[in-house]
Amino acid sequence: MTIDITSNTDKDAAIDAAIDGNVANGPSKDTFYLTTPIYYVNDVPHIGHAYTTVNADFFARFHRMAGEKVFFLTGTDEHGQKIAQAAEANGVTPIEWADRIFPGWQAVWDRLEISYDDFIRTTEDRHTKPVQELVQRLYDQGDIYLATYTGPYCVACEAFYQPSEIIDGLCPIHERPVEWIEEENYFFRLSAYADRLIELYETRPEFVQPDIRRNEVMSFVKGGLQDLSISRTSFSWGVPIPWDPKHVMYVWIDALQNYTTAVGQGRDEERFNRTWPADLHLIGKDILRQHAVIWPALLMAAGLELPRAVFAHGFLTVGGKKMSKTSLTGISPHLLLDTFGADGYRYHFLREGTFGQDGPFSWESMTARYNADLANDLGNLVSRSLAMTTNYFDAIIPEPTGAGELETTLHEVARRAGEQMEVHVRALNPSAALAEVFEFVRAVNHYIDDTTPWKLSKDPAQRDRLATVIHTICEAIRQISILICPAMPAASRRIREQLGVEPEELRPLSESLPQGSSLVGTKVTKGASIFPRVEVEKTD
Ligand code: MSP
Repeated sequence: MTIDITSNTDKDAAIDAAIDGNVANGPSKDTFYLTTPIYYVNDVPHIGHAYTTVNADFFARFHRMAGEKVFFLTGTDEHGQKIAQAAEANGVTPIEWADRIFPGWQAVWDRLEISYDDFIRTTEDRHTKPVQELVQRLYDQGDIYLATYTGPYCVACEAFYQPSEIIDGLCPIHERPVEWIEEENYFFRLSAYADRLIELYETRPEFVQPDIRRNEVMSFVKGGLQDLSISRTSFSWGVPIPWDPKHVMYVWIDALQNYTTAVGQGRDEERFNRTWPADLHLIGKDILRQHAVIWPALLMAAGLELPRAVFAHGFLTVGGKKMSKTSLTGISPHLLLDTFGADGYRYHFLREGTFGQDGPFSWESMTARYNADLANDLGNLVSRSLAMTTNYFDAIIPEPTGAGELETTLHEVARRAGEQMEVHVRALNPSAALAEVFEFVRAVNHYIDDTTPWKLSKDPAQRDRLATVIHTICEAIRQISILICPAMPAASRRIREQLGVEPEELRPLSESLPQGSSLVGTKVTKGASIFPRVEVEKTD
């Protein structure tokens, strides 16, 4: 819902209400709206970029399965000096360069089965026009003024820094020399929003997550906010400032608005009201200030609602430092996909480490976890269960004849896994969510070891008991196929195909988990191994 700004007093009241979270979350808002950062097209993706997007996709799929209407946005950030430089180095125009690079990002997302609902490019008219309109409005209302900027700028970050943040002439993040610029720029009165930002962090602590990031942002703002330079004149690859086109917009002012332009800012009010505010902006910790300081201040100035939460995750590291192309440590997702497949890839980056903290990447630990959890625990469970169903019941899932203690215990583990998974996903902890699911996988393996169906099969008097055991195992696998779906959609589909359950029958989690006898009479088909083992040598 947009806030009507007719006078300054109204504007102040509207901002206060937005900070308190009291602005009606548009009466028509009906969509869980989740975003990734939009990626710079100066280069191709590495696994650090894909980390944000894989996690975002997990959340998007989970919310869809929980029966919610979801809008999941990603895209590419195509303006700015960094892209202009990349284009120049390759002897093409910036737009030619962006056109050449962006399909490579989509290709990685396709291979990773990223289920985005929209992909925005910031060079599209649907983005640039509303961006210009909004900035013009801020200028007209006195939030933007002309002055001279003098100070350091890191092109790799596309960020202005305080001189005190520069270490030996190097950018604190990229450790590369910064540029010192002195230009006449337009400035946004960011400093005027400092008190309101602090009030925002205090009254809505969930706005910046995890807590460590909220504290960081809070002390940054309390340390004093400078007004922000929002235009550049020394290069031309950007959205022109509408009232003074020799200036182009600072790339972040244009980029942040992708979150609102993609859902109809200035074009489709009805759609905008159904979708905005974003429920979750997922970002890496290096772009926290832009999202937790500049973005809410801009939205306050524009009279738009604030996002509900910004969650900043940590870095994938190599040798203790952020993996990056700049430091030549970026690993292509394709390399890992070739060995581990989309599901193995996704599982690793969801399960390993704690979302929010830095974590090292290593082939060895990826291989070890893949083999232990996916090839052994889950893959073997499926193949041996379907083999037993095939051998003992001609591949037709039999009718159970009554549950004993072991079955009741297993049902309880399943129920708990579903419940706990939801708790952890809503707390933005994919690793803990998957740990619960794999507790259940291991419990099914134990159930098989305890019930010894291979022994039961030798005794005709135990035929009914065997039927119960095989049915219980197949039913557990069906439930697992549902629980793993947000993390490993392809494996979920393949397991369901092998079980003889139509993939499209996947219902919301809450309806799908309860025990049912829907599987009785279903014909299973033992297919190729879902998670073939990866030999350590192969990854060397
Ligand atoms: N274009 C800006 C974002 C604009 S959003 C309005 C940008 N792009 S980026 O391509 O440089 O980075 C995109 C995301 O990738 C950031 O969230 C960043 O944190 C993430 N990662 C890049 N390297 C990373 C790691 N090594 N580890 C984890 N994530 C990292 O910034």
